[in-house]
Amino acid sequence: MKIFEKQADLNAYLQSVPAAHASLGFVPTMGALHQGHLSLLAESIKKNKHTVISIFVNPTQFNNPEDLEKYPRTLEADIAKIKTVSNEIILYAPSVQDIYQGQTIAQHFDFDGLENQMEGAFRPGHYDGVGTVVKRLFEIVKPTRAYFGEKDFQQLQIVKKLVQKLKLPIQIIGCPIFREPNGLAMSSRNERLTDTEKERASLIFKTLKTAKSKFKTQSAAKVNAWVTEVFQKSPEISLEYFQIADEANLQPCHRKNNQKKYRAFIAVFINNVRLIDTVSLN
Ligand code: PAF
Repeated sequence: MKIFEKQADLNAYLQSVPAAHASLGFVPTMGALHQGHLSLLAESIKKNKHTVISIFVNPTQFNNPEDLEKYPRTLEADIAKIKTVSNEIILYAPSVQDIYQGQTIAQHFDFDGLENQMEGAFRPGHYDGVGTVVKRLFEIVKPTRAYFGEKDFQQLQIVKKLVQKLKLPIQIIGCPIFREPNGLAMSSRNERLTDTEKERASLIFKTLKTAKSKFKTQSAAKVNAWVTEVFQKSPEISLEYFQIADEANLQPCHRKNNQKKYRAFIAVFINNVRLIDTVSLN
């Protein structure tokens, strides 16, 4: 397996591979890899001749310094997991210096309002940081296709918008969420939960599933009120937001429109660990 820490070395290698950029899949990650990430790699390998994965904990997308400090960093274990998918995968695991060249600041982006909803509202500057690093990684790797999990559906929509606005010749592919047997969406942050907390966290998906069935006959406001009540009765999980939104522009649903596709989005804290999840509603 080829591993590069410097973009210059990665680029030199890719240039030595005939037509590497003609069919190059890319899976950007922050490491602490789980089954969800491995499924993105498997999808990329199916559709592309070569696959690059990046592992980089991007400082500019963390609005909370404690979250950045505690974010799991497990490079050796990640490499072992990548090898279980294929030995041919190319890993780019840069330093902050290699990405930011001494200027660790985020560029400001206008994603036509997608950035102001939900995660954007509760994590100021988060999507400027994501936009900055994804743009930088795309410039370095120059992939044909890039793969993102649907767990951060808002990020997926924002990356599609970034590519559209910058007119980058990259196809963005969203892949389904992977879940633990109890329904908890797989996330690198789950590593910070105890077994009891992981069990408690099953309430997130359970609530989303019931919200989905309620939304068939009830208004978004009613479903919202019900979800708020569920979490009020479970003080060990604190609800940051629950929102039913239009999938295309992420605007909250006030009146149902049968022509639109809706999604429920949720963010909660369990003992200072922030978890997000989402389900499609129709
Ligand atoms: O989803 C993530 O892991 C990160 O936000 C990403 C896309 C790798 C950018 O740092």
